Amino acid sequence: MARKKIIAGNWKMNKTPSEAVALVNELKPLVANEDVDVVFCVPAIDIIPAMEAAKGSNICIGAENMYFEESGAYTGEISPAMLTDAGVKYVVLGHSERREYFAETDETVNKKVLKAFEHGITPIICCGETLTQRKQGIYLDWIRMQIKIAFQNVTAEQAATAVIAYEPIWAIGTGETATSDQAEEVCGAIRACIREVYDEATAESIRIQYGGSVNAGNAAELFAKADIDGGLVGGASLKADFGKIVNYNK
Ligand code: G3P
Repeated sequence: MARKKIIAGNWKMNKTPSEAVALVNELKPLVANEDVDVVFCVPAIDIIPAMEAAKGSNICIGAENMYFEESGAYTGEISPAMLTDAGVKYVVLGHSERREYFAETDETVNKKVLKAFEHGITPIICCGETLTQRKQGIYLDWIRMQIKIAFQNVTAEQAATAVIAYEPIWAIGTGETATSDQAEEVCGAIRACIREVYDEATAESIRIQYGGSVNAGNAAELFAKADIDGGLVGGASLKADFGKIVNYNK
């Protein structure tokens, strides 16, 4: 069975609640492509207003992060139950910016992944190498390690529903996109790693996105690759261009 593409915007720390409503309203008619799952991952404070604005459309609102405890004295954090109560179905976990600026590790990402599944939230699990790791030729080993730790104690049934986002750090916000062949090489290696850890069926159903300077001009070529099941889009998800990315197949 062919995997349905999933194209998600990651707004990062952009858009106030009123700006979020305006952007959802602007993009709503532009992203109406039933062939793909469309997700807007937005700042926590924008989730509820964005959800309201997206009602009746094909847009699914997701979160950009989540904590791995149920509740309690964790000032500033967002719990899984807070997300599910708001209607959130997807959460980005382990983005390289969370790893770099907020000390997230593969182990904390794994705890969050397990917690997301426990609450029925689909994790979009990010992985990716630095430019140095790529130049040293160790990027595939690095990514395999990230994936293996992120999926520790995750069942095959759960893993089959997960989304992985391959985001080479050197391509994020830099305007430098991985070539479609470079992206496919890694996405294929990630699928092989899932096959090795689980089985063929799990590897065939898990969805793997590419992220890193995706734009209206390169989306179609990237998404045409066999192991690339869509994209996680930063900058270009904040403008009308996102409609063109979502409609890459039209
Ligand atoms: O999560 C999306 C991302 O990090 C890529 O950002 O701005 O290069 O599309 P951008």
